[in-house]
Amino acid sequence: MNKGPENKKEIHVSEEEIAKQYQYMNSIKEANAQCEMQTGRKKLAFLQSFGCQMNENDSERLWGMLSEMGYGEGKNSEESDVIIFNTCCVRENAEEKVYGHLGALKKQKMDNQEKIIAICGCMMQQGHVVEHIKKKYRHVDIVFGTHNLYRFPELLNKAVNTRSAVIDVDESAGSIVEGLPIERKDSIKAWVTVMYGCNNFCSYCIVPYVRGRERSRSIEDIVDEIAELGQNNFMEVTLLGQNVNSYGKDFAGNVSFAELLSEINKVEGIERIRFMTSHPKDLTEDIILAMRDSKKVCEHLHLPIQAGSTRILSEMNRKYTKEDYLNLIGRIKEKIPGISLTTDIIVGYPGETEEDFEETLDVLRKVRFDFAYTFLYSRRTGTPAAKSEDQVSEKVKKSRFERLLGVQNKISKEINDTLLGTTEEILVEGLSKNSIWNYTGRTRTNKIVNFKGSKELVGKLVKVKITDIQTWSLEGEVISW
Ligand code: SAH
Ligand code: SF4
Ligand code: F3S
Repeated sequence: MNKGPENKKEIHVSEEEIAKQYQYMNSIKEANAQCEMQTGRKKLAFLQSFGCQMNENDSERLWGMLSEMGYGEGKNSEESDVIIFNTCCVRENAEEKVYGHLGALKKQKMDNQEKIIAICGCMMQQGHVVEHIKKKYRHVDIVFGTHNLYRFPELLNKAVNTRSAVIDVDESAGSIVEGLPIERKDSIKAWVTVMYGCNNFCSYCIVPYVRGRERSRSIEDIVDEIAELGQNNFMEVTLLGQNVNSYGKDFAGNVSFAELLSEINKVEGIERIRFMTSHPKDLTEDIILAMRDSKKVCEHLHLPIQAGSTRILSEMNRKYTKEDYLNLIGRIKEKIPGISLTTDIIVGYPGETEEDFEETLDVLRKVRFDFAYTFLYSRRTGTPAAKSEDQVSEKVKKSRFERLLGVQNKISKEINDTLLGTTEEILVEGLSKNSIWNYTGRTRTNKIVNFKGSKELVGKLVKVKITDIQTWSLEGEVISW
């Protein structure tokens, strides 16, 4: 079995390059330590993520580098010496948020020229965004993209030493980086990126343009990372990729996502395995069977449908029909009874008619998803769908969106209601945000359960009896642990 990419040398950033970044980290670390000795104050960094789990996972890498360089975590941008925005461009409102926050930093930079403002992530992979930032946000010191995140220490050195703007965006198809430090947000659940990029080019989506082509990490590198997590008391991993089902297809050997799941299932210490995102066209029978047969893989699948109308699906370049999708869901439910299903839906794709939209509602009623993440179609410059003359009006989009929520919320509540009185295993995550008396955890099917607990339970698998059903969460009583 060939477990790694044959072209490993070409797509992997070299060990020498990573060693060079460690040298840059060291030199900043020394400067920061000296500064701390003189002033008695530790340098602080503030990092905000605006995107998906992959974006958050990249931020954890940035935190790994920041900690290595001796930065502590600032509570806000005002008190921090380095500010980083890790951006997202999947929808217009994600971009607008970034511009809003960036504008607010102008005064802080004027008051303190020593502050370093860095902006990175998916938005920066678009030429027009970088041009806009150069013109309108001249207080930004560092601009870098998704492909060269690992060069952050070098760029920071340059910005600190030259006091001039550093712009470095790599427009290649992307590479794989191993060996960077990481500082994770959580100590119980961890994200592990298994592949980068996307080859699908759904007609509405900007991701393939800003994340490059599909590149899978080797099974060894992934399993090593997860084994270390297991040794460090992590209980759950979520495998990340834009399209995890096509894991390994870029390798010369025939390594599949099903095989990856079975390998990870053997890792000691890890009790739960989740993954996202799956693409219906690549969710093959062997993956369904691996989910069923790997005890640690949770009974939850996030399977974006995007739209119910076969005509719209074809326009979207999704490569499956409504019937294919329903058929697939039928096979999954048959093999994994009780599985919880979630999805993504776009409302108001160009040319979507009332009849097309009704098809989406029909799928909701037929599949009965536990939850649906719903989005108003957002026009993304550079994608084929953005060129369509047939854009749906905001008013129609919003009204369909509301109708869709009405249908889905009722289904979500009905499914949750069936859990009343049942006993569920939950992984306790910590205090619930709502009340300090309440602890929170998730079922294997990814439902939030709040309960009266104590701190010894955090990080443990606990049996709870479901006593009440709220709209977005459940309440329970601990039975045993
Ligand atoms: N790779 C994943 C996630 C992509 S982004 C996948 O294929 O499912 C997450 C979701 O954002 C998508 O599933 C889609 O529903 C939504 N999305 C992507 N582009 C969009 C756009 N231009 N307008 C509105 N929603 C969009
Ligand atoms: Fe975007 Fe489609 Fe790729 Fe998902 S599969 S990231 S929606 S192009
Ligand atoms: Fe994620 Fe947004 Fe980039 S959804 S991949 S951060 S465009």
